[in-house]
Amino acid sequence: MTIQANPNIPDEVRAVAADGTQLRYALMGMARAMDNVIALGRGDPDLDTPPHIVAAAKAAIRAGRSGPTPVKGMEELRAAIAEHMHEVNGLPVAADNVMVTTGGQEGLFLAIQALIDPGDEILVPDPRYSSYDDAISRAGGVMVSVPTNRDDAFNLEAEAVEAAITPASKALLIVTPSNPTAGIVTEDRLRAIADVAIRHNLIIIVDEIYGKIVYPPWRHFSIGSLPGMAERTITLDAFSKTYAMTGWRCGYAAAPADVIDAMARIKQVTTGPVATVSQWAGLAAISGPQDCVADYLKIYSERRAVLLDGLDRMGFAYGEPRGGLFVWADCSATGIHATELSYLLLKEGRVLVFPGTAFGERWREYVRITMLEPIDTLREAVERMLPVLARYGL
Ligand SMILES: Cc1ncc(COP(=O)(O)O)c(C=O)c1O
Repeated sequence: MTIQANPNIPDEVRAVAADGTQLRYALMGMARAMDNVIALGRGDPDLDTPPHIVAAAKAAIRAGRSGPTPVKGMEELRAAIAEHMHEVNGLPVAADNVMVTTGGQEGLFLAIQALIDPGDEILVPDPRYSSYDDAISRAGGVMVSVPTNRDDAFNLEAEAVEAAITPASKALLIVTPSNPTAGIVTEDRLRAIADVAIRHNLIIIVDEIYGKIVYPPWRHFSIGSLPGMAERTITLDAFSKTYAMTGWRCGYAAAPADVIDAMARIKQVTTGPVATVSQWAGLAAISGPQDCVADYLKIYSERRAVLLDGLDRMGFAYGEPRGGLFVWADCSATGIHATELSYLLLKEGRVLVFPGTAFGERWREYVRITMLEPIDTLREAVERMLPVLARYGL
């Protein structure tokens, strides 16, 4: 795609770096130095951690339950996670197949360090959550992109996966629902992808951190529940998004016991066990009442409707956001590069969004907008963006 220079855009804006990842940090820095910015950049839930989870953490502190736990996590938490993953996700796992991690981020890092050797190729859907890049390159792995498309609501195709396989392919990383696209990989596609994985002896690392935030009628499906898949699948999840617990730094991984052992050996010499108080909070989250999950989903659904209505008014297209906390908007109607658009929206509209290039070089026509502000703030964000677009004839 060639993006035409829009004659109405000031040179200063056009000069903005084309490197989306760098720009993301530059934009966050700019936003911090400005007053009254509506930040729709980062993906951390703004809602409060449910009170019964906070109460469980307080009770653990008061009872002096602060000693370190085994590196894979407290036995009762590992057992509760295994039971939950069995009942809710259909995974054939027991406590031995589970470890507690320092958020979803560490689970991802440990899985890649444990499984990927220098030169191994790991297939990753494009666009992608950019933390994957670092985890893969630090293991000496090579990331190979598998395209996804707006016309297909960014679902992943087994044929596209198979076309990217080479003799060096070791693993496929799936994220469903996706950051940044909000697409999900549907059950029929996961079944076809599982066949490909078995035929080509691929390991599956699946990041299901948004798996409880799926908008009906869509539903989440775990590839690890399919016949023959548990032995080749590492399923990653965390409390961060589902229960608004980002700062508690507690997540989990389910995998064959020997993979869990390999991950635990790395964790032992890096971060050690997860903070004990966070594990008690995690236990309350996973084994306590789940109404908060449904309540939060309702809140996100309402916010999503406001943002989609806003995008319709802006003339931006999008693949239906089926899960997660983002809207991934095609801003090609503006005719300008997403980095320029993000810069303009921040500078003149005081709304922070991330340019698509932060999630893959070819996404120069996309922006990622989070729904992690109260609904009235999101309405205001839309009202701030519209005049900026109008001012520049975008
Ligand atoms: C797809 C995905 N995986 C993992 C993470 C890491 O989550 P955590 O905060 O639990 O480390 C994030 C955070 O935004 C994410 O979007």
